[in-house]
Amino acid sequence: MAPMTGIYVHVPFCARKCRYCDFYSIAAGEEAWDRYGVLLLDELDLLLRSFPALAKERADTVYFGGGTPSILGAERLGRLLGGIRRRIPLAEGAEVTLEANPGTLRGGDIPRLLESGFNRLSLGVQSFRPEALSALGRIHTAQAAMDAFRNARNSGFPSVGIDLIFGVPGQTEEDWAGDLRQAVELRPDHLSAYALSPEPGTPIHAEIERGEITLPSDDAAARMYDVAREALASAGYRHYEISNFALPGHECRHNGKYWRREAYLGLGPAAHGLLFPEESAPLGMRTANPPSLAEYASRVGGERLPWEEAGARDPEDAWKEFLIFGLRLADGVSVAEGEKRYGPRPETLPGAVDRLVESGCLLRSRGRLRIPERLWFVSNEVLRRLA
Ligand SMILES: C[S@@+](CC[C@H](N)C(=O)[O-])C[C@H]1O[C@@H](n2cnc3c(N)ncnc32)[C@H](O)[C@@H]1O
Ligand code: SF4
Repeated sequence: MAPMTGIYVHVPFCARKCRYCDFYSIAAGEEAWDRYGVLLLDELDLLLRSFPALAKERADTVYFGGGTPSILGAERLGRLLGGIRRRIPLAEGAEVTLEANPGTLRGGDIPRLLESGFNRLSLGVQSFRPEALSALGRIHTAQAAMDAFRNARNSGFPSVGIDLIFGVPGQTEEDWAGDLRQAVELRPDHLSAYALSPEPGTPIHAEIERGEITLPSDDAAARMYDVAREALASAGYRHYEISNFALPGHECRHNGKYWRREAYLGLGPAAHGLLFPEESAPLGMRTANPPSLAEYASRVGGERLPWEEAGARDPEDAWKEFLIFGLRLADGVSVAEGEKRYGPRPETLPGAVDRLVESGCLLRSRGRLRIPERLWFVSNEVLRRLA
């Protein structure tokens, strides 16, 4: 059987920057979108020339993320996906995801996306309350989000998910419970619930710093997390990762590759990848493209792989990543799997893991390590100790 890889495509365009977001994206027009499409396939050609073994692989997941991939429109997206598939064919049953901002989907896009091979849609809804949508600087209304969702459902998209954000300035627990109720009524296959993270450099962060707005307290945000867990569990969703819930069989397989430290190519500005060429297997090689379309264009245009950093990891790094990403999953990580891939745990790790187990921050059972559910909301703290 051909080896499998995931493919992540970063689309670095948004209609307008949301007030909280620091993902790499810029506002641009159709000409830039078209140039970007050419560069992206050139980048993939460069990769295939540098690592010819990739040509024998199949993609079992493709994920167009951003930025706002949906801004490119169904036709350009179809051409891009077609170009990728001609270079690395899709495996049977591959998961092909598109992140979409409801404010950018045009009438007729959804059936055309389906026709060109997308089978999973992730809609950035964030909230159903106008006050929250405006505090976050979103370009769409709640009605537009619901219309986009129903359109995707009625057109027969096999998997439709929505993203929500909680801990928004001015949001109460009741507001959040209301958002969850409306989300559950739509019955998405997948639901991501992210705690608002005020990233430095964003308008929301600056307003908080100046004392003009305040976030809900940590206790209130922790209660909102519990409200989500309870509401979604009773509606049949499995909380399979710290911020992610899914109906059975709808867990995101592509993101699973990040959490399980499996192979994926990262294409486009700001994209990251993890490759396993023969010379660096089984530790793998991390790639990171520059978070600048101009720099990316100059490197790819000069026939150079755009990586900013790329290097084989040592077993200690590989182990740390395996734990730090894998412990985000409800099922945690298999110690035997880590040992099979990277060898016995390096000296520095058993101490840290053992201390976390002794203090109750990690559970060890049947050969697996996981974070107890009561600590999921503060899991970043636990994971930081491993880093
Ligand atoms: C890269 S966006 C892609 C979706 C699309 N661009 C949109 O916003 O509709 C992926 C998700 O990340 C989440 N996100 C981005 N920045 C965040 C932040 N600072 N705090 C919490 N969630 C964030 C949002 O929920 C968003 O839907
Ligand atoms: S949240 Fe989505 S639409 Fe908003 S700026 Fe970030 S990537 Fe763009």
